Amino acid sequence: MGYVITTANSKGGVGKTTVTRLIAETLVRKGKTVCIIDMCQNSSIATGFLSDREQFNKTTYEWLIGEAKPSEVIHQHSEFLHFIPSNEKIDDFKVFANKMTVKKRLYSVDRKVNTLRNFYDYILIDTHPSENDDLVAYSFVASDYVLVPFEVDEDSRVAVHRTVEIINDFMQEDIKGYFLIPNKVNTTNQKINHQLETMIDSFVNKGVKRANILSRIRYSTTVSTAKNEKISLEKLAQKNTYAKNVVNDFVELTDKLISAIEGSAVK
Ligand SMILES: Nc1ncnc2c1ncn2[C@@H]1O[C@H](COP(=O)(O)OP(=O)(O)OP(=O)(O)O)[C@@H](O)[C@H]1O
Ligand SMILES: [Mg+2]
Repeated sequence: MGYVITTANSKGGVGKTTVTRLIAETLVRKGKTVCIIDMCQNSSIATGFLSDREQFNKTTYEWLIGEAKPSEVIHQHSEFLHFIPSNEKIDDFKVFANKMTVKKRLYSVDRKVNTLRNFYDYILIDTHPSENDDLVAYSFVASDYVLVPFEVDEDSRVAVHRTVEIINDFMQEDIKGYFLIPNKVNTTNQKINHQLETMIDSFVNKGVKRANILSRIRYSTTVSTAKNEKISLEKLAQKNTYAKNVVNDFVELTDKLISAIEGSAVK
């Protein structure tokens, strides 16, 4: 039975999609099978995998409403890394789900995702940046764990507090645990590192366990360069030290994630 992990943060642009994609690639290099379900309007999972967003006529939406079989929506980025693309139609799922009874609606995504658990070691769900959005709530109900990437700035600190507050509402019966991931960290800048430590203290003061704050991912323009130049970060890392450093950050992070989840260290 695979683990289901949703990536969420009510703030946009913090790296949800990038972190989801690069953790997925790292998990696959470690021998895991992974499927990413895109629940976001922006199609960034598909474009992040260098696909054209217009090429998919069946998406997460059609799968969720029962108009497409898994085989019609699951695409192979590589042998062991699959994804279900999304687009703006996903918003209509809220309208579809609203016709269900309250309990059925809450478990509407969970029911579909559960049918994939036997086929993958990890199912990662990427979400849209919004607060109290139904699609994010349904994704939480479907998940065992949540990843919250964040940047080092005041807006992000406030957004993490809010996101953790929402996750806490889903803890116990649905979510087993969550992890914060400092992303885009300028590791050589003392001031930024100090600011990050202050942010972490503020999270811990609000009840976040230090062990649930994973290792940081450094800021590197190679992350965007790889995407813009349609080359995988891993491939870029073969000739670019900065890209290699980021790839290594993801290896360290993913190792911690696997041992926390598979060792059930987090409750
Ligand atoms: N570690 C990093 N170093 C440098 N750039 C990064 C890093 N992580 C993400 N980015 C860049 O930041 C931008 C936003 O990242 P991404 O799209 O992953 O964020 P998001 O949270 O999914 O955004 P949205 O809220 O719009 O869905 C992208 O241009 C991405 O390439
Ligand atoms: Mg995104």
